[in-house]
Amino acid sequence: DGFAAARLFNQGYSYTYDDVIFLPHYIDFPTESVSLSTKLTRNIDLSIPCVASPMDTVSESSMAVSMAALGGIAIVHYNNTPSDQYSIIRSAKSRRIPFASDPIFKSPSDFIGSGDDFASSPCVFVTRNGDSKSELLGLVSRSNWAKSGEIGIRVGDCMEAVAAAGSSRYDFDQAASFLARNEVDWAPLVSGDDGEVVDVFSAEDVERIRGFPKLGLPSLGADGDFMVGAAMGTREEDKERLEHLVRAGANVVVLDSSQGNSIYQLEMIKYVKRRFPELDVIGGNVVTAYQAQNLIQAGVDGLRVGMGSGSICTTQEVCAVGRGQATAVYKVASIASQSGVPVIADGGISNSGHIVKALTLGASTVMMGSFLAGSNEAPGAYVIQDGRRVKKYRGMGSLEAMMKGSDARYLGDKSKLKVAQGVVGAVADKGSVLRFIPYTMHAVKQGFQDLGASSIQSAHELLRSSVLRLEIIVAFMLLESVYSFDLLKLIEIEL
Ligand code: XMP
Repeated sequence: DGFAAARLFNQGYSYTYDDVIFLPHYIDFPTESVSLSTKLTRNIDLSIPCVASPMDTVSESSMAVSMAALGGIAIVHYNNTPSDQYSIIRSAKSRRIPFASDPIFKSPSDFIGSGDDFASSPCVFVTRNGDSKSELLGLVSRSNWAKSGEIGIRVGDCMEAVAAAGSSRYDFDQAASFLARNEVDWAPLVSGDDGEVVDVFSAEDVERIRGFPKLGLPSLGADGDFMVGAAMGTREEDKERLEHLVRAGANVVVLDSSQGNSIYQLEMIKYVKRRFPELDVIGGNVVTAYQAQNLIQAGVDGLRVGMGSGSICTTQEVCAVGRGQATAVYKVASIASQSGVPVIADGGISNSGHIVKALTLGASTVMMGSFLAGSNEAPGAYVIQDGRRVKKYRGMGSLEAMMKGSDARYLGDKSKLKVAQGVVGAVADKGSVLRFIPYTMHAVKQGFQDLGASSIQSAHELLRSSVLRLEIIVAFMLLESVYSFDLLKLIEIEL
């Protein structure tokens, strides 16, 4: 019944995830016993196969904190200055609780104009210069400000002392018991090194997080901090950026290119491995065995697979180059597995079924942009569009993102001519990744159970040994308009 992967993917057709379907196999274990623990790279283990894409509408510190807390990882984008990217990574790594809050700072001479200052925080922190770095003098709580009854009151005139401050090294349970012990509704979590307020943690947060499914093992580096990845380019100036990333404590770097099989990337892989032998390097993107082979020989520790498969991508339309993502993942993983190099299936994930397909076809993790972009943890504010709460999501090759600096990936140099290979859009509010990723992982486990695979490793083995069988989904409406019926017959015969 059905076809073995080796047969299906060697016919000269390019399949996307939606073109193929697995036939169910045999179940002899419960869903709960499916393990999704996996490898991001040769040396980095994750407890869930989820990676947040290095895009400026997806991965900054808030996403990095929550993805690591879930047992996945985020790759911080580099559409910024090296020092901005350094700060984002440091900010994620200085936290232990599973989310990043948004404390507000003012100086004593500033004014509190309206209740809007308390929209995202129960208080305003007062520091000497009104920034997070300068000396903490006190705070203005929402309730105290409301009691004062004055609209344009000066901060210095309604400031109170900080009653209880916890440590930014507290994990969630420690922070929760700190609030209970001190009988307060909220408290700042302060860094022991410089007294900087890192987070404001409240009883509401305790209730919210406890309402989410229980978190698995977080992704922690050897330093005990959350694991954070960072993207960089392959230009000469990226060597300078690399120094910042390593100083920030990045646990892995991703050389970010839509066509990774280039002399620039091969040389950068070798440079990074020479300069920091302990640092894992992910190369890509690739979609063919030939491209993958070159990067593996240069020494990559992980391979990112996908070209034009992302939801905001127009590379295939603009450049006529790419591959259907199911075929790309299968082909690259077949080669990479021989060298023990894990594969990241990048782009085109819009439901849990796509994750099951990517992992079963040989990927060890999936990298997601749009799937995570509408979450609370994605950068940017929600806006109302056609009556729906949405957040902006844009391709890093869109004109808008390139104007901010991401042209290295899509143009190769800072030439004046800019041709977009991506678009700008918006995605609906999905709430917190801390809630919807655990549900998604549960759905993936159910898919694995239907396939009779109790782990990602075992899915790979079942596929390789032709126990798992696939079929092509024939979308008739599409086929009628795109293919002649002669071609349809040919497909049948060849298969
Ligand atoms: P999803 O489908 O998860 O895809 O939204 C995210 C991936 O898409 C890639 N990417 C782009 N590809 N033009 C492209 O052709 C772009 O502007 C662009 N921006 C991101 C990238 O691999 C990302 O992880």
